[in-house]
Amino acid sequence: MTQHSAERTEAPTDSHREAPTGTHGSEQSRESESYTHGHHESVLRSHRSRTAANSAAHLVPLLRDDMTLLDVGCGPGTVTVDLARLVERVVGVDAATPVLDSARELAESTGTTNVTFEYANAYELPFDDDTFDVVHAHQLLQHLSDPIAAIREMRRVTKPGGIVAARDADYSAMTWYPDSAGLTEWNTLYHEVTAAYGYQADAGRRLLSWFQEAGFTPESLTGSAGVWCYASPESREWWGGLWAERCIESNFAVQAKDAGLADDVALEELAHEWRRWADQPDGWFSVLNGEILARA
Ligand SMILES: C[S@@+](CC[C@H](N)C(=O)[O-])C[C@H]1O[C@@H](n2cnc3c(N)ncnc32)[C@H](O)[C@@H]1O
Repeated sequence: MTQHSAERTEAPTDSHREAPTGTHGSEQSRESESYTHGHHESVLRSHRSRTAANSAAHLVPLLRDDMTLLDVGCGPGTVTVDLARLVERVVGVDAATPVLDSARELAESTGTTNVTFEYANAYELPFDDDTFDVVHAHQLLQHLSDPIAAIREMRRVTKPGGIVAARDADYSAMTWYPDSAGLTEWNTLYHEVTAAYGYQADAGRRLLSWFQEAGFTPESLTGSAGVWCYASPESREWWGGLWAERCIESNFAVQAKDAGLADDVALEELAHEWRRWADQPDGWFSVLNGEILARA
């Protein structure tokens, strides 16, 4: 384990944030889950850039205008609202209330009337069995201690023959240029923080496996991958700038400190490294996302 502070502090003592134990979590660990990124403005800036085209291209060709769709862990709802243009009716759910207000404002400001947003936990979706034609989750499963349970729950509310779709980044597969020891340290710290809280940062590569563990047959699954790439001055500044902020101001920073994995000085240094990367004219960063489509 890399040392991200001069003096490592003790493991977290706040039981609410205590790292869940055991594989795939327990009821108790699910209760104490805390979304790694939180909803700081730097996080929302990243989520708000997402559209159906750049985040759900694996699913879009299968959508029809008579379908109902549930978006689980919808965040500020930009993908959700975009998907609503392609189907009859959409429900977005999230376990964070403020972000739902932001999603509702987006629907209203864009005149999108066939989408509603409500509070729900992915482990206990407040819908009957076989309700939706499509159940979708973008960048959610990596933030859950028990992704298998959430996939089962997503399947429960999907009509037989319907589609369960997911897409998650894979942090070990992120790559960049020029080489940066600082960004490598950030990536290591990200893995350490998510592991301490019982989450899987390399979710993308595991989707096919997780869906089979949740009961889907291999024949019912289609795996793929999609990439986000930041290689222009604007996108470098945007991506590098938001990660610089996340390193010091988002829930990631809080969790890193609570878990005794980094201190303020180390986090400031990582933020500096992100800004340094963003300033380089040959800077290139790509995020590999695992994708999956499952027939219920
Ligand atoms: C990385 S964000 C993705 C948001 C959105 N899908 C997007 O791609 O822009 C993950 C979202 O999942 C939500 N979330 C985390 N755990 C959840 C749970 N157990 N049930 C429902 N939502 C959850 C978080 O509040 C957050 O808004």
